[in-house]
Order: sequence, then structure tokens, then C-alpha cells
Amino acid sequence: MRRASAQANPNIALIKYWGKADEDLILPAAPSVSLTLDQYPTTTHIEPAAKDSFELNGRPASEKETARVSAFLDVVREWAGGHQPHAAVRSVNEAPTGAGLASSASGFAALALAAAHAYGLDLSPRDLSRLARRGSGSAARSIVSGVALWHAGTDADSFAEPIPAPEMRMVVVPLSKTRKKVSSREAMRISRETSPYYEAWVRTTRAMSEEMVEACAAGDFARIGALTESSAWRMHGLIASSAPVIRYLTPASVEVFDAVSQLREDGLAAYGTADAGANVVVLTTPDDAAAVATGLSEYGDVTVCGPGEGARLEPGARNE
Ligand code: DP6
Repeated sequence: MRRASAQANPNIALIKYWGKADEDLILPAAPSVSLTLDQYPTTTHIEPAAKDSFELNGRPASEKETARVSAFLDVVREWAGGHQPHAAVRSVNEAPTGAGLASSASGFAALALAAAHAYGLDLSPRDLSRLARRGSGSAARSIVSGVALWHAGTDADSFAEPIPAPEMRMVVVPLSKTRKKVSSREAMRISRETSPYYEAWVRTTRAMSEEMVEACAAGDFARIGALTESSAWRMHGLIASSAPVIRYLTPASVEVFDAVSQLREDGLAAYGTADAGANVVVLTTPDDAAAVATGLSEYGDVTVCGPGEGARLEPGARNE
């Protein structure tokens, strides 16, 4: 085993992933579509050690987080033929952890690439995405640059790949830095087990992913935007229909969605989305990005993101 460092960025889903067909293999119940951002990278370093350990943002991670990283490393070691050494993993996130800015996606994408390199696996982009998926489902998409389609299916064919799409921007409106009370993993299981709407969600998400692929290929931005906003509200509606009721959006989030509708009425391309947290992310075009950012600046310290690169070995680091 050798040491390695890799970087990956978060992605924001246009069509959301919410619900698994297989919890162990992390197979999604339906396909999803996302944009990998050009900001908020996670940088991850791995090296051989006497036992598995995980340090996050300069501090030892919790037992639960460390166990999750160690379980993921077990998958990598199994792919590498078993009987491989333990490892020390250090990760630094530039986005606030656990606040719905997809740090598990960038985290497990960076770890998948660093660990694959460290344990001597030479993986195709497709297999790297399959591997990242085992850490966190959405990490499968952060392997890919720009717009990604993550296929549902079996272990062998559930991976993310790039799809043709028009240039887009996303304006991130940060509203909360606090860690969410119910993790996405837990909440999506509760949705599957308790929501009367779950089957309709899965069925319509399949159809919406297909429509999104077509809208992206056609460069139909209005369609892309309408599907994006609709998928987000359907997911949050599903989440709210679970027992116990779970709600990630706050009154401030809803206010931003209203401001986004107003921007649209004013003639700008602006469509809101939100993951499992209060922050709102607004999809827009390169032409309208500056005006959308200005229009939303009263709600928070907004950041305009473009399409970013997929996972890569850290430039400048000594990857042996
Ligand atoms: C709301 O990928 O974090 O961001 O597979 O259990 O690790 P696990 O879940 P995770 O869920 C992401 C959910 C989401 C929507 C999305 O990114 O598609």
C-alpha cells in the first residue's frame, strides 16, 4: 500500500436521489441527475497505519463517522484482493459539514479515488463511480465532471456518467451551518418505510430523470429548471409525509424559494432546489447568474458556482 491524496467537489442534484433499493450495496430506487460544482472541495489523504483512523477538518472524527470510513475501506480492500493494511485518513472539507451542501458526496468521492490509488486499484471512471457509491450514494456523481446521470440498477450497472447539457450556474444561498438532526441516510429509510407517497415518488423520479436527460440534450433550460424545482419540492413533500414528520426547509428557505419565483416573474432564469438541509441553491444561466446573485444577496452570503471537475488526484501532492 502507498500513500495518496485526492480531491473532489460536491454535486447538487437536479433530479434528487431519495430512497434505496439495496441499503448494503447503496443501489438507488431511481436514477438521478446532478451538477458537480467548481467549489467547496474536499481534500483527502490516506496512508498505511496500524489501525483505521479518520480525522475530519483537523480533529479526530466521531466513532460513527470513523466506523463508516473503515467499512468503506473494507470494500476497497476487498476489491484489492483482501489482506490489505489498515489506513489513516485525513479529510478537509471547504463546505460546512452536514448542512446540506453534500459534503458526504465530495468526501466519499475523494476517499474512493485516494483509497483506490493507495491500494493499487486501477479503476475505470465507471468502476470508480461504483466504488464511491458504496460510501455514499451521491458520491457516485461527484466522480464525474459537470452534469452526471447516476443509473439505478444492479451493483454492476449502477454508476454515474457525464451527459451533454447546456452551460449552467448555481447560486448557493447559505442559510444554516448547523448539522441536520436526521441524516439523509436515516431519513430516506424512514420515507421508504412510512410514506404513503413513496412508490409514486420512485415512479415519477424515474420518468423525470428521463425527461431531464432529454431536456439537457436539447439545451432546453426552462424545462431543466422546471424539472429541477419540481423534483426538490416532491422530495421535501415526501420527507414531510413520513412518520415521524421530518422537515429540513425552514421559513427562511421558503422565503428564498418565493424570492426565486419573483426573479422568474421579473424575467430571469432562476429555479430553486434544496437538499437535506435549509440551504437553497438556485439554478440559473451564465447570462443571468450575476443578476440572480444580486437579487438574492439580502438572504445570505451567496456564492456563484459553475460546473466543476470530477474527482482527481491532488495536484502537487506526492502521489507515489
Ligand atoms: C438530499 O448520498 O448522502 O442530497 O447514500 O445514504 O449516503 P447515502 O445518502 P446521500 O443522500 C443525498 C440525498 C440528497 C439528494 C441528492 O443528492 O440526490
